[in-house]
Amino acid sequence: METDIGQLKDISREQFRFLYSLSQELNSSEFRESFLEQTLDVIIKVINAERGIVVKYDEQTNEFSIVAARNINKETVKDVTSFSSGIIGEVIKTGEPCLFHDALSDPNLSQFESVQIYKIKSVLGVPITSNGKVWGVILADSLEDRRNFTEDNLVFLDFLSNLISLSLDKIMHLEHLRDENLILRQKVESLQSIPNMIGNSPVMRTLAATIHKVAKTDVTVLLTGESGTGKDLAAQAIHELSQRNNNPFLAQFCGNIPDTLLESELFGYKKGAFSGANADKKGLFEVANGGTFFLDEIGDISLALQAKLLRVLQNKEIIRLGDTQVRHVNVRILTATNKDIRQLTREGKFREDLFYRLNVFPIVIPPLRQRKGDVLLLANYFIKKYSGRNDVKLDPDTVRKLEEYAWPGNVRQLENVIQRALIVCDEKRILPQHIMIEGLESITDFKGTLDEYELLLLKKRLEELDGNRTLAAKSLGVSLRWVQGKLKEIAENQHRDE
Ligand SMILES: Nc1ncnc2c1ncn2[C@@H]1O[C@H](COP(=O)(O)OP(=O)(O)OP(=O)(O)O)[C@@H](O)[C@H]1O
Ligand SMILES: [Mg+2]
Repeated sequence: METDIGQLKDISREQFRFLYSLSQELNSSEFRESFLEQTLDVIIKVINAERGIVVKYDEQTNEFSIVAARNINKETVKDVTSFSSGIIGEVIKTGEPCLFHDALSDPNLSQFESVQIYKIKSVLGVPITSNGKVWGVILADSLEDRRNFTEDNLVFLDFLSNLISLSLDKIMHLEHLRDENLILRQKVESLQSIPNMIGNSPVMRTLAATIHKVAKTDVTVLLTGESGTGKDLAAQAIHELSQRNNNPFLAQFCGNIPDTLLESELFGYKKGAFSGANADKKGLFEVANGGTFFLDEIGDISLALQAKLLRVLQNKEIIRLGDTQVRHVNVRILTATNKDIRQLTREGKFREDLFYRLNVFPIVIPPLRQRKGDVLLLANYFIKKYSGRNDVKLDPDTVRKLEEYAWPGNVRQLENVIQRALIVCDEKRILPQHIMIEGLESITDFKGTLDEYELLLLKKRLEELDGNRTLAAKSLGVSLRWVQGKLKEIAENQHRDE
């Protein structure tokens, strides 16, 4: 049908306002579900119809489905069978707009059941096209006792459908892209592991997805989990996957460091703040500006420092030691601990208000014994990493030995065991005897004194914990002073031997 634009000259103010807002809606990239319903409401009002429907046509099945259906009271019509499917079919077949008056007395239409039952008096139908094909139909009808539609109404509806048709491709394309994007993103998040973070077990997959999600935000994360589970690794991953990844990632180990030293590291100082402060110094919070700051072993900081940390978290402001100037810092804070901070708050050793500030988003890294499926994956990963070769294989008995062990030292312990095995194994095969796990086995083989055994165990533990004395003391169930005393003993023995 040729649309005579001249016929639109009498367009009412209301119609014009509607067309304007419609064109804006269609031109925007947002396609709201409710949009077609709103369109129908306006159509019904403008052409004085009783009901309106938008259907989508499926060429392959030759069927149509309802996209929106409304009545004069701006209600969604539930009984869509009351619309004349015969007339919708006509518009789909011809691809032409159609206007029927007196449907009941029209022999072509009165055959349709709905026309009979619902006493449809006047019907208007226009196709919506996309890529030259009929995408769907807009249909409006008027029941008995109402007026007939006019040619003007048809022109208006056709004009409107042309507008929708013009934008439909764009809208559908966008919708499709958006859906596809969502699916791909979800796939990536659930499948894409974190770089360097090995694990395919359900818990690790969930962890990876969580890390991906939380990385995009700026919230404070509290990482908890036993020693060696990968808290440092997770903190780095959060930074790497965040928008701050072009800015610094700084970490400060807070365990067993004198208060004043830790404070000056974190907050910096002004020249003359204490003896030895010969020049102004920036604290790590300032250096990390724009980036991420990881406070490791947060459970160990003193109550005095906890109060200062709370101020940073609340106001994002710091004051250097001995200074009065308040400085604003923009850092994302990540923290970790293998202590039960909740318990520490109960014991009054950790401020509750600080705990809640740190625990905005808790991430618990499960111990290796709860993800045994990952042991082999990790073992092979470390073999490749430390041998630099692809052909070093684990003997089946070795695999069994690795999988049966409980790994109290978690991934770090496994990593050390593999490193040791690579040193002693022959060429390309790692046999069970190459897997040296400290424990009962080695005690029964040990022929020395108890004193010697103590030192050996301490040395081993320190080796496994990257020389961290606090953690070694913790894992051996002794005080830090004991560890320091023993190390002094070792040093003195060595000195004597030389
Ligand atoms: N999923 C993993 N994939 C590969 N390597 C891992 C994984 N988890 C941990 N590691 C490695 O294990 C070692 C210990 O990890 P990490 O230092 O992150 O543990 P942690 O939880 O911070 O321990 P701690 O409480 O003792 O500080 C590191 O060398 C780390 O690279
Ligand atoms: Mg750590």
